[in-house]
Amino acid sequence: MKLWGGRFTKATDKSVEEFNASIQFDCRMYAEDICGSIAHATMLSRQGILSAADANAIVEGLKKIYGQIEQGEFEFSVELEDIHMNVEKRLTDAIGEAGKRLHTGRSRNDQVALDTHLYIRREIAAVARLLMQLQQAMITAAKRYSDVIMPGYTHLQRAQPILFSHHMMAYFSMLSRDFIHLQYAWDMADRMPLGAGALAGTTYPLDQPFVAELLHFGKIYDNSLDAVSDRDYIIAFLEFAAVLMMHLSRLSEEFILWSSSEFKFIELDDSHCTGSSIMPQKKNPDICELVRGKTGRFYGHLMGVLTMMKGIPMAYDKDMQEDKEGVFDAIDNLKFALTIYAAMINKMTVNGQRMRDVLECDFSNATDMADYLAKKGLPFREAHAVVGKAVHYCIEQGKVLQQLTLDELQGMSPLFSEDIHHYLNIETCVRQRNTYNGTSPASVQRQCHAGTAAVVEE
Ligand code: ARG
Repeated sequence: MKLWGGRFTKATDKSVEEFNASIQFDCRMYAEDICGSIAHATMLSRQGILSAADANAIVEGLKKIYGQIEQGEFEFSVELEDIHMNVEKRLTDAIGEAGKRLHTGRSRNDQVALDTHLYIRREIAAVARLLMQLQQAMITAAKRYSDVIMPGYTHLQRAQPILFSHHMMAYFSMLSRDFIHLQYAWDMADRMPLGAGALAGTTYPLDQPFVAELLHFGKIYDNSLDAVSDRDYIIAFLEFAAVLMMHLSRLSEEFILWSSSEFKFIELDDSHCTGSSIMPQKKNPDICELVRGKTGRFYGHLMGVLTMMKGIPMAYDKDMQEDKEGVFDAIDNLKFALTIYAAMINKMTVNGQRMRDVLECDFSNATDMADYLAKKGLPFREAHAVVGKAVHYCIEQGKVLQQLTLDELQGMSPLFSEDIHHYLNIETCVRQRNTYNGTSPASVQRQCHAGTAAVVEE
């Protein structure tokens, strides 16, 4: 029954057969395998390598198989090892002689490369759409809560007041870089490997540009050895995925902190949280924790393929079959994470009052007080020292800076006058940070505006 059985005198050991097979996971590339074979057969007949009648029987047969797989009426067999031989064997059983001619001028090595390129390319397009949806959700949240001011942190210590929308748009910016990464992965995947054969090219007069055109590939591999042994496009996708997950993991960490009773900055929608089987009061941010946790396996998948590739000689080696499970897992989990995160951001409630209350009783406006003195002529280092002392004094007195009287302030520096209280106001603190990428409402509006245009354009 083996398509390569001719030179063998013994049947394959059962456990070898199972260990060797990839059908358990590469069956998901059935559409790509069939599409690629249709393109190959169409080209073979156009070149006079296959008769029109054979090509026609092949194309019709493949379309039927596609329908059967879609309907769940196709039983994949481990004995036939992979998706390529499962489809080819079924085709031959169905149409006879003509089916046996399909593999002319082709090897499973360029065939699997073609399928995987097509598959990754299709998934990149799907992931790109989800990535943009998530970016859109971030812009929408930024606009919905445009007047919310929150404490900005460094070292997880309150630092300076920022707009909540500025924080959202920081993540938007990260995802914009991920988009560039994703486009690079597309570029790596957009190369047509067919015609490379097993490794050296083929003796048939194939029309590779025609196949590339049929399958909408931008480029054809320049070198047949490289064509069958390149997995850079998979690595590029996994790099993209690892960095994107690192970004989502950071966001997860913040959502987890913010939804704790200690912070109470946001409330995730009930539909995105889970409960405890013992503690009735619990509402847990499991999804955020899972995204943070799953980031580890994304790094693992990237390391797995990099390590798998590092020692293998030209051209195809069976090691390369190990390129698939990780990237498939990455694609599935990434699509889940992006979809759920967009919905979660759309549905979460931001507690602006709580953020404001926190800011009213801390020292996030201390830099503004120092800037005030510096703008009145005191060297910034000295201004810093004066405000440092003021903070120390406040802590001892159980006060915050905006509660100091003008008398107390003038005792610390004669440069203080009435208007200081205006400058300590958190709205003023935020509005004053009007540098190009600062947290002022004008700057954040500009970010949202440019972001909307970018998402539409992407
Ligand atoms: N299942 C194989 C893979 O995923 C297909 C290519 C096999 N080629 C070969 N010569 N054994 O890599």
